[in-house]
Amino acid sequence: MNNIQAYNNWAESYDDVTNKTRDLEATAIRKVLGRKKFRKILELGCGTGKNTEWLLTRDGDITAVDFSGEMLAKAKEKITSEKVNFVKGNIKKKWKTTRPKYDLLTCSLILEHIKDLDFIFKQAYRVLRMGGLFYIGELHPQKQYVGSKARFEKEKKTVVLDCFTHNISDFTGSAIKNRFKCLEIRDWYDEDDKTVPRLITMVFRRLM
Ligand SMILES: C[S@@+](CC[C@H](N)C(=O)[O-])C[C@H]1O[C@@H](n2cnc3c(N)ncnc32)[C@H](O)[C@@H]1O
Repeated sequence: MNNIQAYNNWAESYDDVTNKTRDLEATAIRKVLGRKKFRKILELGCGTGKNTEWLLTRDGDITAVDFSGEMLAKAKEKITSEKVNFVKGNIKKKWKTTRPKYDLLTCSLILEHIKDLDFIFKQAYRVLRMGGLFYIGELHPQKQYVGSKARFEKEKKTVVLDCFTHNISDFTGSAIKNRFKCLEIRDWYDEDDKTVPRLITMVFRRLM
């Protein structure tokens, strides 16, 4: 099963089953971006719209992209605002936007599925305005080292998705190479386990 098929299968249960990573990332993005407002937002890997709903409170227009039709269908059931444009697309292919128009780009729990981070930062530079922010919330590399991967249960079987481990220096290296400045990096822990961080968040600013 490839990742598109896997996410199409996962969509039915994604919002309902216990998922500490999903929930911690929801907390993290809200704390990291706080009260900032944005005019134009690009959300990659919007999934069932967990963060799209909150991003709407940041006042801007949102383009929310995902390659899974079933995940997008779930998001569309929840979010009917005209300020959100849902787009089916694969972020590994050249992004369609032709000019720098967004002031926020978010990637929540999607980049572990992308091998070539450099391509993502290159595209990000193209579509973000100067000074625009790039927020990333990902499974922490330390959590990946101990075997954690995106996975779900289907008909009593565990489906494990195709994932890549990126070190923090892979993110910062690609960022610097593509003219981004790192503004902050934070580790996020489970309430009941302060040994290995579950999540990492990073915020980059697009330079000139
Ligand atoms: C773990 S889910 C996260 C969803 C949502 N951002 C959240 O935090 O709950 C990852 C999402 O990324 C999407 N995705 C994975 N690889 C993708 C790709 N190459 N292009 C577009 N979407 C992708 C999946 O379909 C899925 O909806």
